[in-house]
Amino acid sequence: DSAKPLRGRKVLVTAGPTHEPIDPVRYIANRSSGKQGYAIADALAELGADVTLISGPTRLDASQNVTLRAVESAQEMLVACEETLPVDAAVFAAAVADWRVNNEASQKIKKQAGALPDLSLTENPDILATISGSVSNRPALVVGFAAETENIVENGKAKLDKKGCDWIVANDVSASTGTFGGEENQVFLLKGASTESWPKQTKQGVARTLGAHISDFFQSKST
Ligand code: PMT
Repeated sequence: DSAKPLRGRKVLVTAGPTHEPIDPVRYIANRSSGKQGYAIADALAELGADVTLISGPTRLDASQNVTLRAVESAQEMLVACEETLPVDAAVFAAAVADWRVNNEASQKIKKQAGALPDLSLTENPDILATISGSVSNRPALVVGFAAETENIVENGKAKLDKKGCDWIVANDVSASTGTFGGEENQVFLLKGASTESWPKQTKQGVARTLGAHISDFFQSKST
């Protein structure tokens, strides 16, 4: 079926920010809206894939043809990803917090005159690196993102090597670009030594072009 080249393929997409709790009412987060990841989930479902969208907290509604799994923290996102395996392809568009508070308070921290809360941070698991390194359950195609504010391609390539994924979509997230939260994105697709620069376009446009690359990947594998 040429209109549904991903029919029969199971795909996992992550999207949105993660919220890392400080206490029952406070958290650390970032400016990801989820728009890029939701657009990718939609585009892949449109191509016939069976899509599970694992999303941090956003204001978006998932399409009906996508299975949504809502999570809050990076640790929850990792568990949800592992529970969704095996999949044929995984696309990691979420802006996962690199750090979480390791002394999360069980009660709301009280404001006390002159005393500041003592927050200590610890590193979150790297979901992309963990799934890329999975021995028994690695998806045939693992696509990561790289959110950079300088040396976009160079830093993206370094992430491709370090995280062990197959492709990286590298984007400039400097404040002036409006990538976080905005409607448009300008990305580079890094596959091994090859670098493609895509024009600035809507996040839906990026998602459709990425979907075409993913379809080609599976088409050339099966012929
Ligand atoms: O949500 P929008 O407002 O639409 O914005 C889209 C976006 C800018 C968030 C998106 O296009 C994007 O770049 N997503 C990745 C954001 C990010 O966290 O990038 P990073 O360079 O810090 O991480 C590199 C890769 O590792 C990413 O695929 C990320 O999902 C993954 N990662 C990072 C940290 C971690 N602990 N676990 C991970 O899996």
